[in-house]
Amino acid sequence: MARTLTLPTPDDFHLHLRDGAMLEAVLPATARVFARAIVMPNLVPPVVTTADAVAYRQRIMAALPEGMAFTPLMTAYLTEATDPDDLERGFGEGVFTAVKLYPAHATTNSAHGVGDLRTVYPVFERLERIDGILCIHGEVTDPEVDVFDREAVFIERTLAPLRRDFPNLRIVLEHVTSKAGADFVEAADDRLGATVTPQHLMVDRNAMLVGGIRPHLYCLPILKRRRDRDALRRLVEIGFPRLFLGTDSAPHAQHLKENACGCAGCYSAPVALEAYAQVFDEIGCLQRLPDFASRFGARFYGLAANAGTVTLVEEAWTPPEQIVVGGDVGTVRPLLAGEVVRWRVADRP
Ligand code: NCD
Ligand code: ZN
Ligand code: ZN
Repeated sequence: MARTLTLPTPDDFHLHLRDGAMLEAVLPATARVFARAIVMPNLVPPVVTTADAVAYRQRIMAALPEGMAFTPLMTAYLTEATDPDDLERGFGEGVFTAVKLYPAHATTNSAHGVGDLRTVYPVFERLERIDGILCIHGEVTDPEVDVFDREAVFIERTLAPLRRDFPNLRIVLEHVTSKAGADFVEAADDRLGATVTPQHLMVDRNAMLVGGIRPHLYCLPILKRRRDRDALRRLVEIGFPRLFLGTDSAPHAQHLKENACGCAGCYSAPVALEAYAQVFDEIGCLQRLPDFASRFGARFYGLAANAGTVTLVEEAWTPPEQIVVGGDVGTVRPLLAGEVVRWRVADRP
C-alpha cells in the first residue's frame, strides 16, 4: 500500500500571483491545494494603497475558476511615500493582512522599495501600535556585499537594529535561506517568524551551478551552501514553530529566465506541497508537515486553521516541462519540471 498523509488544508504565506494572463494561468495551481495565501504586492506598478489592494483582490477573485475556493490575503508594498493612515484604514477594513518591505533594488520589481529605513519609521510605529505584521525581503543591496552574504549582513545591519527599535513589531523574515538566518530566527522571541521555500530546503547552490547553469533555480535570496540548507532542515526537523510554509512561487516567462540577464524567481506552485512533502520525507520528518504547512503560519498570523483537508499519496509523477500562458508571456517552466516527484496530491487529475 502506498503511504498517504492527510493534513488540514494548507496556506501559502508567501506567493506571487502577478496579474493579467499570468494571474489566470497560475492561480488554479495554488487554489487547488492552498486555502489562503499571502499575496505579494510587487506588481508593476506596485500595490501600495488600500484602494490598489481592493482592486487587485477583485482581479484575483475574477481570475478564480468557477467552483474553486481561495482567499487572497493582501499585502501593501511599502514605499517611502506610504501613508500610515491609509495603511491603518486598510488593516481596519480587513483589506491588508501585512505590509511588505523590499529594500530598494533588492529583488524583482523592488525599484519602489525603501532606501533609507528611517523614512518609514512612522509606518513601523503605526504597525507596532495596531499589531500589523511586517514581511521583509531580508537582503542588503550594498554593491560591496557579496550576493551570498546579503541575508546575513541584512540581519546584522538592518533586522537586528530594527527589532531593537520596535520590539513589539511582528515581523516575518521571508524566504530565509542561510544558517545566519536560521540561527537568528531560532534565537528570537515569538514576534519574529520566517517562511522557507521548497527549493531552499531541497538543494544548495551546487544544484544551480555545477554541470551547467540552471536559470530556473535562480531566485533571490540566492541558493546558499549545503550547511545553510542543513540549518534550515534542522529547524524543520525539530518542528520549530516559527518557521512555516511560504513557497515564494514567482513565475516569470521562460524566455526571460533563459536569458543573458535572467530574472530571479522559481515557479513552484504546481509542485510546491509535493516538493515540501518529498524533502520532509527525505529528512525523515514527514509527520512535521501538517504543522509546518497548515498550523504554524496561521498561528503566527492570528488566523484560524482551515476546516478542509488535503491528502498526499506516495506516488511518482513528473511535472510538465512548461505551462503555456499565452499572450506575450509565452511559457513558464515549473520547479522540478521533467523530474520525478515522489509525492502527489491525491485528487490531482
Ligand atoms: C520574486 C519575484 O519574482 O517577484 N523573486 C525571487 O527571486 N524570489 C521576488 C522576491 O520574492 O524576492
Ligand atoms: Zn523576496
Ligand atoms: Zn517572493
